[in-house]
Amino acid sequence: MTDSTVAGASDAPRDATSKITRAVVIGVGHYLPENVVENDAFTKTLDTSDEWIRTRSGIERRHFAAKDEYTSDLATKAAEAALANAGIDAESLDAIIVATSTPDFTFPSVGTMVQARIGALKAYAFDVQAVCAGFVYALANANALIVSGQARRILVIGAETFSRIMDWTDRGTCVLFGDGAGALILEGQPGTGGTEDRGILSTDLNADGRHRELLFVDGGVSTTGTAGYLRMQGNQVFRHAVEKLAQTAEAALTKAGLSASDVDWIVPHQANIRIIQGTARKLDLPMERVIVTVQDHGNTSAASIPLALSVGAAEGKLKQGDLIVTEAIGGGLAWGAIALRW
Ligand code: UT7
Repeated sequence: MTDSTVAGASDAPRDATSKITRAVVIGVGHYLPENVVENDAFTKTLDTSDEWIRTRSGIERRHFAAKDEYTSDLATKAAEAALANAGIDAESLDAIIVATSTPDFTFPSVGTMVQARIGALKAYAFDVQAVCAGFVYALANANALIVSGQARRILVIGAETFSRIMDWTDRGTCVLFGDGAGALILEGQPGTGGTEDRGILSTDLNADGRHRELLFVDGGVSTTGTAGYLRMQGNQVFRHAVEKLAQTAEAALTKAGLSASDVDWIVPHQANIRIIQGTARKLDLPMERVIVTVQDHGNTSAASIPLALSVGAAEGKLKQGDLIVTEAIGGGLAWGAIALRW
């Protein structure tokens, strides 16, 4: 376990001007299940079409986990990819945070399952549940642990098997979601406190539980004793998303002392291409500066942002020093944004 003696410690040399600790991304990776399902597959059982799904959501295909493949399996593979990308040993991790709403079991947490599988035996581990905003919430929590000296290196994972909570007779939801996992490794490194620092520069988290009925799962441990199915009033969530995502992105940038014109990349939650375009328009940024994976992944909830970051990095789009703003909204409602320099 980590203690306060690691506060702000880093392999990177401390220079005389460093004032604060920043949570810097040192590794990224992802995993997608092998089974790819194209839009056309849904036309066999539902009154829908590739054209409707494509034009209303931007989704063309998604990955579904195999029957014997669980959220912890996806999370572990993404974690291994991120560790390899960072070139570090799992034993050097101080903490693991997994953002998920589809854990293997009620407990233990997916975080502890990943911890055992990758051999990160010095790390404390837990899950965060904020549905599609889960990864933003997990990153904000990881950042707080690092800047307060409670951890130096944290593995942050978003992993979901939303295919397990789909009602396959509901065409308004089951065509939209997919399975997958992405992971980042954050490390505390010295910063100057200025906007040129690498790492997380600001966070903006929000929730409004009065909108529960717009997006929820109709089962659970303490109520039905079942996992339940996802229920969504899509067009109502859409309305909130367009309004709230640009707001939270702007709030995060303002807290960092930056503005939208400073942004190199928006890495949005991948729910709907029209929401992604609407948010970019509100921030007055062209789509060339947005990482888009929704066509290939569908909506993977808490996994969508780390998947998009990993794909964006693998494609050579995200470069060291780029300013990224990442934003998400989901069930709760819960939403938020993070400004970080890659
Ligand atoms: O990640 C968490 C946050 N979630 C989101 O951000 C999702 C937000 N919402 C959306 O992405 C969009 O609202 C949807 C893609 C879910 C739906 O698009 P929409 O343009 O808002 O359509 P709608 O819900 O208003 O439905 C329009 C029509 C309806 O038919 P009527 O009532 O006009 O006759 C639906 O029954 O489309 C119908 N419809 C479909 N038709 C063919 C709904 N699902 C389908 C379908 N295929 N799969």
